[in-house]
Amino acid sequence: MGYNTWNFYHCNIDENAVKAVADAMSSNGMKEAGYEYVNIDDCWMVDRLPDGSIQPDPVRFPSGMKAVADYVHSKGLKFGVYTAQRSRTCQNRSGAYQHEEIDAATYCDWGVDYLKIDLCKGTGWNHANTSWILFQKGFEKCFKETGRYIVKSVETCREPTGCGQWIAGVADLWRTTPDVQATWQSVMANIHSQNNMASIARPGHFNDPDMLQIGNVGLSATEQIAHMSLWCIAGAPLLVGTDLVHASRTTLALLSNPEVIAINQDLGLDGAIQGVIVSSSNSTEVWRKRLADGRSVGVVLLNLGEEEATVTASWSDIGIIGHAMVRDLWARRDLREAQGSFAASVPSHGAVFVKIAPTVGRTDAGGTGGGGDAWTSADGDAALWV
Ligand code: GAL
Repeated sequence: MGYNTWNFYHCNIDENAVKAVADAMSSNGMKEAGYEYVNIDDCWMVDRLPDGSIQPDPVRFPSGMKAVADYVHSKGLKFGVYTAQRSRTCQNRSGAYQHEEIDAATYCDWGVDYLKIDLCKGTGWNHANTSWILFQKGFEKCFKETGRYIVKSVETCREPTGCGQWIAGVADLWRTTPDVQATWQSVMANIHSQNNMASIARPGHFNDPDMLQIGNVGLSATEQIAHMSLWCIAGAPLLVGTDLVHASRTTLALLSNPEVIAINQDLGLDGAIQGVIVSSSNSTEVWRKRLADGRSVGVVLLNLGEEEATVTASWSDIGIIGHAMVRDLWARRDLREAQGSFAASVPSHGAVFVKIAPTVGRTDAGGTGGGGDAWTSADGDAALWV
């Protein structure tokens, strides 16, 4: 969980902006909610010095990257930077090709905690994983010397039976998608392409559908609830891609709901951290994540359609039996006990996100066969915006 500069700042990034993000994150509740990395994306570097070492932009980062890292660390946060495995980054800055060893040593020296390794332009290695293996070697050395683990986020792996076989051995997270945009189509396309990669994800090794667009112009409030709910149930990395320094209360509420985040962070039954689609019909879907406690499940009822719709999670689809308490995670309150199924009325492009926990020793309390009338999320939404 953390922040990435790309979606909001693009190349308009400098040390003051990074410090401002760190200040915001450490004082607006985001750090307490679990967001810890402040990651600079493309454009922080210019070229290389004659000794081959990477040179931060001297105008935008006059204090140097070690000072920026120190500042982020002083806020109790972690610090990340970006590179590309080819000779040029996507914004045509110096990439890492054939400089992995010296770059790994530099990042270790600066106190970097996270490296995003893009693919991008120019010359590259013949094998997709060569650059990552070289960085991994350098980072293992760093770990031995400093005890600091450097997370490797790489682009790209989209094939469960191809790179999916070995990617977790050389990366902590890997992009599975094109660049996300703040549109409903983009957000839905990215999360849906995660589904067939689910079995590869394990604690510490994540499929990455790209950054959160919460707070960005282009998604309605309802769509943002669906977006956050899906990233959480799919165990996706939660990297914020909005203006956190001026974020509204609504944006912060959407990003930092502890019960919603708890499903994202739950290690999953037997380490299956990524929830999947368990049923779909026309324009609705039910997503389910089995939780590590071995009995309860996180469930997202999603409406992709243009009209309000009733979406039903049947116990057989989500894999539970008997009576169960249904808790609205956004509103943070128990709704009712149900049996057999739970149905909710979901707005167009919206989602209802619940935790369903079988109740032990109860046989007839509240719920009716079939789950009763469809619950409507209006009350829950009111609670969210408080
Ligand atoms: C893209 C990458 C984006 C961002 C951008 C920077 O290739 O997918 O997430 O890092 O490059 O140029």
